[in-house]
Amino acid sequence: MMSSIPSKATPLLSIVDLKIHFTMVDREVVHGISFDIFSKEVVALIGESGSGKSVTALSVTRLLPPREARVSGTIAFQGKNLLNIPRKELTAIRGRKVAYIFQEPGASLNPSLTIGYQMSEIIRHLPKKKRIQHIYNRLKDVGIMDTERCYRSYPHQLSGGMQQRVMIAMAILQEPDLLIADEPTTALDVTLQKQILDLLKSLQQQCGFAILMITHNLLLVSHFANRILVMFRGNIVESGETRALLQEQKHPYTKALFQCIPRFRHKHQTLNPIDYAELGIV
Ligand SMILES: Nc1ncnc2c1ncn2[C@@H]1O[C@H](COP(=O)(O)OP(=O)(O)OP(=O)(O)O)[C@@H](O)[C@H]1O
Ligand SMILES: [Mg+2]
Repeated sequence: MMSSIPSKATPLLSIVDLKIHFTMVDREVVHGISFDIFSKEVVALIGESGSGKSVTALSVTRLLPPREARVSGTIAFQGKNLLNIPRKELTAIRGRKVAYIFQEPGASLNPSLTIGYQMSEIIRHLPKKKRIQHIYNRLKDVGIMDTERCYRSYPHQLSGGMQQRVMIAMAILQEPDLLIADEPTTALDVTLQKQILDLLKSLQQQCGFAILMITHNLLLVSHFANRILVMFRGNIVESGETRALLQEQKHPYTKALFQCIPRFRHKHQTLNPIDYAELGIV
């Protein structure tokens, strides 16, 4: 088994001065953020709704439509700036080296094609027998035991939890180096959320990929991430090792955010809502 200790040599992904501007509404929503992700690291990206987490995630492999969004800065992945490599080269990285899992598995799966067909499409370069074996193995990795039945199923025949497992199996099909998960458990009930996160963590340790995890669930983050980045209104306002950040938050937004979690408050303290006036926001 591979070690889960992050290697601190050179970053796997290094984002420098990333700006995202939506041209139609003439609005910059990400204002020059910078962060690194090292190989085998689990990094959580948290922050309030609309702060720019999803657009940041999408911009990593240029998934924002160029007509709508102007993206500038540097997104260096394994030494290549993904913002200016040819589209063909980018397609080879997207899905293969950088894979995504989104919130709604139902929306990412094609309802008219079987799971097996959709998974086969991703690795159609392999011979048929090898392909099927590979798919069965990945389905087993995500805890699906009746692999043949799942292979033959259409998405609507599977539960939400099963669909999200299939999405994870698809994401790891080509052994990515970085998995970007945008609220992968939000659509699931609480017990399933924990199961899916435990699954991601064990796969990450077994396969050794890095994870950028976007989530609102701070309790799960604390069990899961090596490092936390906090976004607020298009900026990263705070970042640090999970344990250190849980003990002490410097930015008032982060402080307010962590105070909302009962576990991180003192026993007799009352719940303090986020005071936007204190943050200078009216
Ligand atoms: N296609 C678009 N055109 C114009 N503005 C957009 C577009 N997509 C996103 N935005 C705006 O960019 C900002 C950041 O959105 P984003 O989806 O990244 O937020 P988020 O942090 O992921 O929020 P949530 O936690 O609710 O998912 C928001 O103000 C959003 O309205
Ligand atoms: Mg989002």
